[in-house]
Amino acid sequence: MKNTVSTLMAQKQSGDKITMLTAYDYTTAKIMDECGVNALLIGDSLGMVMLGYENTLPVTMEDMIHHTAAVARGAKNAFIVADMPFMSYQTSVYDAVSNAGRLIKEGGAHAVKLEGGAEVCEQIHAIVNASIPVVAHLGLTPQSVNVFGGCKGQGKSAERAKQIFDDALKIQEAGACAVVLEGIPAKLAARITEKLTIPTIGIGAGSGCDGQVLVYQDMLGLTTGHVPKFVRQFAEVRSVMVQGIESYIRETKSGAFPAEEHTYSISDEVLSALDAEE
Ligand code: KIV
Repeated sequence: MKNTVSTLMAQKQSGDKITMLTAYDYTTAKIMDECGVNALLIGDSLGMVMLGYENTLPVTMEDMIHHTAAVARGAKNAFIVADMPFMSYQTSVYDAVSNAGRLIKEGGAHAVKLEGGAEVCEQIHAIVNASIPVVAHLGLTPQSVNVFGGCKGQGKSAERAKQIFDDALKIQEAGACAVVLEGIPAKLAARITEKLTIPTIGIGAGSGCDGQVLVYQDMLGLTTGHVPKFVRQFAEVRSVMVQGIESYIRETKSGAFPAEEHTYSISDEVLSALDAEE
């Protein structure tokens, strides 16, 4: 079944949890889509997990379009959401609409995601008016890493909790079709989820949200180094990869690979004809 804005909304209403994972390439998107995940997010987290940057800030529109198009070619049923990179929508409403349009036209996304609350409501409204669904993103918004002084949980103080709650109402009013809640207290996320009519998708925001999203390298055990507290590692893919790569190196060096069955044959007559020509 195709996942759309309407099916995600119906999931909120029926209490069927929405599953979203990040994806950045054709092969992984195809696997996730075949598993039946509801939505795929081409997150600007690709800056770190695919391109090796320290944070999401250097990611460009060209990076996002390139990876979104690959995911769109691999996914048949998932709802495809592409992140708007840093400075692709903050600069003006015109830039926001124009860049959102590129992610749909050139990338093949079904919706775009952008970070922020009241300060980006004009952009959300204009993008939605251009017939492009917008997923908002509140709480620990990684593009504000320099304002937060690091990737720190948000919404613990009364003032900040109220700001996030009010922002959630404002982005809904502006026309957002869903909102990602990242790195906020579970009870605050649950309150927001109860209040909003649009689905909330949590990451580090507890089980009270309408759905969950994780970065796939984290949940499949590919990430080395720091993994956020809210991640559950559902598989140990890194160790399977290491095993396979080490076996390849060992067997290539020993001559065990390639074996007879991995080679193309040639008839003795053709070989002797070659000898005769030499
Ligand atoms: O960029 C990303 O992967 C995200 C998720 C963490 C929600 O925005």
